[in-house]
Amino acid sequence: MQRIKVIEVSPRDGFQNETQFIRTKDKVNHIKNLIKSGIDHIELTSFVHPKKVPQMQDAEKVLREFKDEKGLIKTALIPNEKGYERARNSFVDEVNWVSAATDTFNKENIGMTIDTNDQLLKQMIEQAKEDEIKVCYSVAVAFGCPYEGEVKDEKVLERVQYAVNLGVSRITIADTIGYAIPSEVEFLMKKVLQIAGEIPIAIHLHDTRGFGLANAYSAYKVGVRIFETSVGGIGGCPFAPGATGNLATEDFVYLFNRMGISTGIDLEKLIEAANYGTRLTTNKALGRIRHIERKFL
Ligand code: COA
Ligand code: ZN
Repeated sequence: MQRIKVIEVSPRDGFQNETQFIRTKDKVNHIKNLIKSGIDHIELTSFVHPKKVPQMQDAEKVLREFKDEKGLIKTALIPNEKGYERARNSFVDEVNWVSAATDTFNKENIGMTIDTNDQLLKQMIEQAKEDEIKVCYSVAVAFGCPYEGEVKDEKVLERVQYAVNLGVSRITIADTIGYAIPSEVEFLMKKVLQIAGEIPIAIHLHDTRGFGLANAYSAYKVGVRIFETSVGGIGGCPFAPGATGNLATEDFVYLFNRMGISTGIDLEKLIEAANYGTRLTTNKALGRIRHIERKFL
C-alpha cells in the first residue's frame, strides 16, 4: 500500500489564534489524543514572543511533557535565533523556521525583511547541525498574501532555492490564507519539487475558500507526500487577516483512506481527538467528516 505522511499542526496553528488561554494540561491531553490516533509527527508549539502570540507562552511547559516520548517527531516553529535557543533547550527534534514569500507579510509576522530572516537562518544552521536538530524551512503566503495580493511563483522559488542551498531538512510551501486553487497548486508544486531534488517537500493548506482537499489532491498528484493539517480544521495565523482554519486532518485522512493510500492513522481515534481539540477552541464548525454519522463514513 502506498503511504503518505501527515504532520499535525493543531497544537501550534490550531491554537495560536485563540484569544482565550487554553490551559497547558488541556493542550497536553490534546497532543496525547493525537498520538493515540497514530500520528507520529506533530508541530507541538512555537517559540515566539509571548506578547505577540500569548497562547504560545507555555511552549517550554508543553515540550517538557513530551521530553521522553518515544516514536514522536517533535517539531516547533521558530522565527529567530532566540526561538532556536528556546527550542533546543526543550529537546525538539526539528525546528520549523518560518519565512514568507512577501516582505510585507514577513514584517507583519516576524518584524523583519525576508533577507534579514534568511541571514539569521544562515548563521544558525551550523549550530543546529552540531546540536543534531533538523532545520525545516516554511514559506508562508506562498499562493496569496493578505497584504500584497497574488504572489508570483518566482518569489516562492527563490526562497526554495535559498533553503536548498543551505541544505535544510524539509521545505514546506504554505497557503497561509487558503488562497490557492488546485491548478495553481499543481503548477507551483511541480516546480518546487524539481528545485528541491532530494529534499522532502511538504504542503501546508488552509481551507478558507473550501479548496483545501482539492489542493491536497493536486499536490499529491504531482508528487507531494507530506501534508501539514490540523484536526477539526482549527487554525489560522494571527497576522493574516481574513484567513480561517487549516485543512482538517480527519477529512484528509478519510479521502486518502478511500483512495487506498495509508497515513497510518486510525480515523475513529482521530475524530475523537478532533472533537476534543475543537472543544478547546472557538472554531467549532470546521472539518466535515467528523460531523457525519459513523455508520455513513
Ligand atoms: N521568544 C521569546 N522572546 C523573544 C523571541 C522569541 N523567539 N525573540 C525575541 N524575543 C524578545 C527579545 O528577547 C526582546 O526582549 P526584551 O524586550 O525583553 O529585550 C524582545 O523580544 C524584542 O526583540 P526583537 O528581536 O526586537 O523582536 P521583535 O519585537 O521584533 O519580535 C519576533 C520579533 C519574531 C519575536 C515576533 O515578531 C514574534 O514572535 N512573531 C510571532 C510570529 C508568529 O508566531 N506568527 C504565527 C506563526 S507563522
Ligand atoms: Zn497555517
